[in-house]
Amino acid sequence: MAFPPPRLLSLQPTSCAPRAVSARHHGGRTAPELSGPTPRVVVVTSGKGGVGKTTTTANLAASLARLSLPVVAVDADAGLRNLDLLLGLENRVHLTAADVLAGDCRLDQALVRHRALQDLQLLCLSKPRSKLPLAFGSKTLTWVADALRRSANPPAFILIDCPAGVDAGFVTAIAPAEEAVLVTTPDITALRDADRVAGLLECDGIKDIKIIVNRVRPDLVKGEDMMSALDVQEMLGLPLLGVVPEDAEVIRSTNRGVPLVLNDPPTPAGLALEQATWRLVERDAMTAVMVEEQERPKKKGGFLSFFSR
Ligand SMILES: Nc1ncnc2c1ncn2[C@@H]1O[C@H](COP(=O)(O)OP(=O)(O)OP(=O)(O)O)[C@@H](O)[C@H]1O
Ligand SMILES: [Mg+2]
Repeated sequence: MAFPPPRLLSLQPTSCAPRAVSARHHGGRTAPELSGPTPRVVVVTSGKGGVGKTTTTANLAASLARLSLPVVAVDADAGLRNLDLLLGLENRVHLTAADVLAGDCRLDQALVRHRALQDLQLLCLSKPRSKLPLAFGSKTLTWVADALRRSANPPAFILIDCPAGVDAGFVTAIAPAEEAVLVTTPDITALRDADRVAGLLECDGIKDIKIIVNRVRPDLVKGEDMMSALDVQEMLGLPLLGVVPEDAEVIRSTNRGVPLVLNDPPTPAGLALEQATWRLVERDAMTAVMVEEQERPKKKGGFLSFFSR
């Protein structure tokens, strides 16, 4: 395989990241400070499917709400939504943005408030297998974001869970966003798609793009069988928002409909996602500190030759 030389890394959280404690207690620390205009509209995207966009969206949203930062999590996957499942809200979604656009209900009626996390609301774009009113086209979510911005209680964040791929659903999902969280796994196919998506986001005027490297296996990185987070960061040339390890608790939390960041005691992936949330709020990024590096001559061409941005 044409991997660049893997490194043994210590990824050091910067000032805003919480220590290894649940943010429920905030570890005696003040919560991260939100600055600048709100709502901040952030799309969680990837290109490749199944890399962890919905898991990331659900956990960032739950973490923000626990920090008392009001958030609307939008499931923009019109065909195959599942953010409602991860948030345990599947039985409470009766109205969607499509119903609002069709004039059948008000926007506030389509927002589903989480019972345990009062600052978290979910908005689904449409019911599974139903179509959006064509008249709105790719402007659907722009309209939704504007309506939320003008509402009596605008949220601090609008987090958009983007569908996989780069077709119409992607275009609709990124339309209102000013920032992006690009989720990738440390493998060559996900990275090539992430690179392509980063290019498309930049073309759309979204310059604030940060990456989350998901499903990292430190044992494989150490054995040089998996790219490290720093390798991924260098290849994509984008700042790191977080590095999330492979964690069996992700599947358990998905099946229970309780976001991982609410686990007590916290699990490795839950902590990483919580730390990513703090960085997101403070517009911070991770600093990667190399504690040991095994320099090997880079192969000609190598991994970067796959990229066409
Ligand atoms: N850190 C992790 N550790 C273990 N499993 C994970 C992790 N992150 C995600 N998964 C699992 O990977 C699968 C895909 O995750 P998820 O649905 O969040 O991806 P997605 O990018 O939203 O997929 P799609 O493109 O289909 O919308 C799920 O089964 C999820 O439980
Ligand atoms: Mg998804």
